[in-house]
Amino acid sequence: MTILVTGARGQIGRAVVDRLHSAGLAVRAASAHPTELTVPAGVETAELALDRPETFAAALRGVRQVFLYPQPAGIHDLVKAAEAAGVEHVVLLSSSSVLAPDAENDPLASHSLRVERALAGSGLTVTFLRPDAFASNSLGWARLIGRSLPVQLAYPDAHIAPIHPEDIADIAVTALTGDSLTGRSLTLTGSESLTFREQLAVLSETLDRPVPVEQITRAEAAEQMGRHMPAPMVSALLDLWEAAGHGPAAIGETTRSLLGVPARTYRQWARENAAAFTGR
Ligand SMILES: NC(=O)c1ccc[n+]([C@@H]2O[C@H](COP(=O)([O-])OP(=O)(O)OC[C@H]3O[C@@H](n4cnc5c(N)ncnc54)[C@H](OP(=O)(O)O)[C@@H]3O)[C@@H](O)[C@H]2O)c1
Repeated sequence: MTILVTGARGQIGRAVVDRLHSAGLAVRAASAHPTELTVPAGVETAELALDRPETFAAALRGVRQVFLYPQPAGIHDLVKAAEAAGVEHVVLLSSSSVLAPDAENDPLASHSLRVERALAGSGLTVTFLRPDAFASNSLGWARLIGRSLPVQLAYPDAHIAPIHPEDIADIAVTALTGDSLTGRSLTLTGSESLTFREQLAVLSETLDRPVPVEQITRAEAAEQMGRHMPAPMVSALLDLWEAAGHGPAAIGETTRSLLGVPARTYRQWARENAAAFTGR
C-alpha cells in the first residue's frame, strides 16, 4: 500500500519522501506542479493541487496513509475523496499557532485550524503535528547577513524554541509508519529556548564573523514586513514576538520525548545551512 506525501516540493514534504523511500516503502510524491518535483529515482509522482478536487482521486488511488500539507480551500472534498479511496490515517503538518487564544481569527492559525477541524469531523484517523517556529525561518535573514548588513528586529529578545525541519520529518515518518503517535495532537519544538539575538549570535559564531543586530520600532518593522506579506499577518507575527519577550519559550514534544533521540540543535541547523548566509 502506498503512502501519499503532499507538499512534496516543500522542505518537510521532500524530507518525508526521502525517508520513506530509503526505508523501502512505497511512496507517492504529490505536487500541484509535479514536473518541478525532485524525488529519488523510483519514487512515483502525482499531480495533486489541494485546491483542485479533480486531481484528488488519481493521486489517492491505492493510498492508506497521507502526509498532508494544510490547505483549507478543498479540504472537505479531499476528506471525501480520501474516505472513498480507503485512506486510513492522515498525518497533518499543522502549526502550534492553532493553540493561540482566538486562533480562528488569527491569520497565522486559521488555515491550519480549518483543516484540523475538517479532519477531526471525518471518519479518518488523524495525527496532528503542530510545530512551533522552524529553525529554517532564519533563512529570512540570509540576504542581509550575506551582505554584512545589520539584522533589524523590533523584538530581538523574543524567545523561540526553534525546531529543525528534519526533526519534524523524522516525527512525521514515525507517525506514518507505526501506531505509536496515531491519534495524537503534538506540539513540536526544538530542545532549547533561544532569543532571536541568541540565534544571531550562533550564526555569527558559525560564520566566524560579526552579525550585527539593530533594534527598530514596531512601526518600522511593520513597514518592512508589509512589503512581503499582508498586513494582518504582519500584525499577528509582531504580536506573537512581543508576547514572546517575557521569558524562555515552552519546550513541547521533541524527538527526544517522542523518538528517544536527541533533538537537532539550532547550532547544527546553522552549520548545515551556513552557505546560505555567505552572500555568494
Ligand atoms: N515556518 C514555520 O515556522 C512554521 C511553523 C509551524 C507550521 N508551519 C507550517 O508548515 C508549512 C510549511 O511547510 P514547508 O516549509 O515544508 O513548506 P514549503 O517549503 O513552504 O512548501 C510548501 C508547498 O508550497 C508550494 N510551493 C510554492 N512555491 C514553492 C517553491 N518555490 N518551492 C517549493 N515549494 C513551493 C509547494 O506545493 P506545490 O508543489 O503543490 O505547489 C510546497 O509543497 C505551512 O503550512 C506552515 O503553516 C510553518
